Amino acid sequence: MALWGGRFSSEPADSVAALSRSVDFDWRLAPYDIKVNLAHLDGLVASGVIASGNGEVIRAGLKALSTEIIAGKFTYNDSDEDVHSAIERGLIAKIGAIGGALRAGRSRNDLVVTDFKLYLIDHLLEVASLTTDLVSAFNQQSAALVEVIAPGFTHLQHAQPIVFGHELAKHSQALLRDVDRIGDWLVRNNFSPLGSGALAGSGLQPNPESSADTLGFDGVLANSIDAVSDRDFAAEALFVMAMLGVHLSRIGEEFTIWSTTEFKWVVIDDAYSTGSSIMPQKKNPDIAELARGKSGRLIGNLTALLAVLKGLPFAYNRDLQEDKEPIFDSVETLLVLLPALTGMVETAKFNGANISSGAHSGYALATEIADYLAKKSVPFAQAHEVAGECVRLCESAGIELYELSDDQLKAIHPELKSDLKELLTTQGAVASRTSSLGTSISSVTKQIADLKNATKEAKSWISNEVERFSGMMKP
Ligand code: ARG
Repeated sequence: MALWGGRFSSEPADSVAALSRSVDFDWRLAPYDIKVNLAHLDGLVASGVIASGNGEVIRAGLKALSTEIIAGKFTYNDSDEDVHSAIERGLIAKIGAIGGALRAGRSRNDLVVTDFKLYLIDHLLEVASLTTDLVSAFNQQSAALVEVIAPGFTHLQHAQPIVFGHELAKHSQALLRDVDRIGDWLVRNNFSPLGSGALAGSGLQPNPESSADTLGFDGVLANSIDAVSDRDFAAEALFVMAMLGVHLSRIGEEFTIWSTTEFKWVVIDDAYSTGSSIMPQKKNPDIAELARGKSGRLIGNLTALLAVLKGLPFAYNRDLQEDKEPIFDSVETLLVLLPALTGMVETAKFNGANISSGAHSGYALATEIADYLAKKSVPFAQAHEVAGECVRLCESAGIELYELSDDQLKAIHPELKSDLKELLTTQGAVASRTSSLGTSISSVTKQIADLKNATKEAKSWISNEVERFSGMMKP
């Protein structure tokens, strides 16, 4: 049933109805649509547009419909254009023509964007919560591996030794930034567009502040034209999810490499691996690969919406119906990906001996020679050259830096004394980096303790926000 038949002499062509129809995907907004309708109803009763007796009938009808929607007893049919028309149809079927009174003082233009924002608040909080679970998994593994020394890479070449807990904790840092972004997003976007009507506001619904408050928003947007056409909040949400996806893809890439026969740094648990249909021996890191692959669609969803918004006139245009599928896809992708990846990280078995076996190789301790000379006031540029000469000599002699004799060292530079040898160990190199962000065991231990506190704080603000909106989320 269309919501706009009066001025038309014919029904829309089948091809138009098929093109126009969004209910197959926007039905996800149904619980939010009911909530927004209930808040709007309060306003119409308060302003006297709907008599309070009728208001009670409509309220009871909406609540009954909500129960049926949750139980799967009421859903959309072939004639419904979108979630809003399906719900109005259901309400009128239940309580009669009075159900149509609710359309006063609002338009689908402000209704849809309010529903959509509530959906996003609800689901971004869920994404944030699942992300903190992944952070906890990394915090735990980092703490367990804080004494394992590993080769650290730049350009995927051995660079300097690091402690492996430091390597894993970097993921917690990146993921907590993603959680923080969701918090920022909420502070900026938690304002209601309801009351904007089609674009100009409405004389029938004079108090949007009160419906905003009922729905859990911090207030009302300031400009009705902006309010019905703004989708910055959706684009920002897609960026936040794309960035998270990029972080997950980098985690996926590491686990894929680390689990190869060549590395053997980690064994992914059987429950988080898959096999091959032809090669019986194969155990594949598919979860890690899917994490890497799915970031592509998360990035695609962001660019899809930005392309829809570019050059779009104000206020509402039907193009804006294209805002929903990218959001639903990104949210639903993350809701399946995050728990699987968390399970994979939690159950992964790292092999400390394999990780540390190559930590010193590739002349990874050359920087120690340069730092040693710099501490003796040799200008670093010169110290760097000298350390490079040591590497060149070792390479041609086929030996490691710590195998250079005292005479060889002295010949390269008079300040290279035998006490240098003590520093040419991976333990010595790591232990010297005691600044707060550095790789010494004590610094990394402190970093992981801070991460655990930050994770606890994040979990607590997320559950407070979920609580704040829970009236809105559970009908
Ligand atoms: N299905 C539409 C959307 O998602 C609802 C708003 C329709 N508004 C209109 N004026 N045709 O944007």
